[in-house]
Amino acid sequence: MKIITVVGARPQFIKAATVSRAILEHNKINPLNKIEELIVHTGQHYDTNMSDVFFDEMDIPKPIYTLNVGSGNHGAMTGRQLEKVEEIILKEQPDYVLVYGDTNSTLAGALAAAKLHIPVVHVEAGLRSFNMEMPEEINRILTDQISSVLFCPTNTAMNNLRNEGYQNKNCKIYNVGDVMYDAVMYYSSKSRRPNSVNIERKFVLATIHRADNTDSNERLSNIVSALNKIHKTIPVVCPVHPRTKKHILNLEVKPNFLMVDPVSYFEMIWLLDNCSAVVTDSGGLQKEAYFFKKFCITMREQTEWVELVNEKVNFLVGNDPVLIVNKVMEALENEEESRFEGKSLYGDADAAARIVKCLSEKLA
Ligand code: UD1
Repeated sequence: MKIITVVGARPQFIKAATVSRAILEHNKINPLNKIEELIVHTGQHYDTNMSDVFFDEMDIPKPIYTLNVGSGNHGAMTGRQLEKVEEIILKEQPDYVLVYGDTNSTLAGALAAAKLHIPVVHVEAGLRSFNMEMPEEINRILTDQISSVLFCPTNTAMNNLRNEGYQNKNCKIYNVGDVMYDAVMYYSSKSRRPNSVNIERKFVLATIHRADNTDSNERLSNIVSALNKIHKTIPVVCPVHPRTKKHILNLEVKPNFLMVDPVSYFEMIWLLDNCSAVVTDSGGLQKEAYFFKKFCITMREQTEWVELVNEKVNFLVGNDPVLIVNKVMEALENEEESRFEGKSLYGDADAAARIVKCLSEKLA
């Protein structure tokens, strides 16, 4: 069986690391039923610290094709990716095209395959924020619609698909758990402190990269002011996405907290393990905070990971600076509280193996 995996952005490298490793393990045990995986990197993320470092550190098989499509407006970026992925699919004639998550690379890979009648496998299917202004929401809805095999990470995702009538569609749907949980469990012993961070413990980990927050001066200023205020009480460490860096430099309000370059996965899990709380607008980091039993203050109005909000370990605060500061302070006061024990919201850390088993047995 031949699979083309299309990746392009940072979180997809982490997800692909787990499934690619499971494919290699499957091939060792099943030499007569091997899965050949060809990785295609669209080049959506291209800086060394946004891309190469993940492949090196996590031992992800090197991409067979690197498309160097780079950044741009969403239509242009997705269009360029679509054209190039199509050429590769035509040449390689895979049995499946595998895509992860909700980025422009996800949509381009899925669309190129579906138009050529190659079944699309979507890992992290069924998630919804119900906010169509987010580019990710458009990407995930469209990708689900044209996928033949949908691997959901949560019960909520399964329910979302049911509510949209997917049981009447010609596709297969599985709840396998979350591949990011696999990644944390597998790699956490390899975590290491970033050289750029000289604090051992007692800090707040912050990240900001959503277009919604970075591309509005007002929203970004609110967030920077809030982080400045928190930093007066406890150090705030913020690995800064290139998009955010560009916009922060143009603000009137200047950041006083510790801004460092983007960190690798091993460094990020060190930060998660050693911080006192997380404040973010990332999707993935909300779950990772939970895996490390840290409260997460989410600077968005909605989240796809609603079970964390229901469990009262994740708090949606939008970009209201007072609410951000208050919720972080509250989280710090309750830091020792172990309300996370015993809950397995994201499966059993065997999602990648289950995906590969489905691919090799049920669909072959
Ligand atoms: C993308 C995904 C988002 C995901 C995020 C993870 C979409 C629509 N968004 O957002 O869902 O959470 O990746 O990080 O696909 N840039 C660089 N170097 C890089 C990459 C980006 O300088 O290696 C800069 C460019 O100026 C670019 C900007 O960052 O214009 C934004 O990059 P882009 O890929 O458009 O979106 P992300 O914000 O990274």
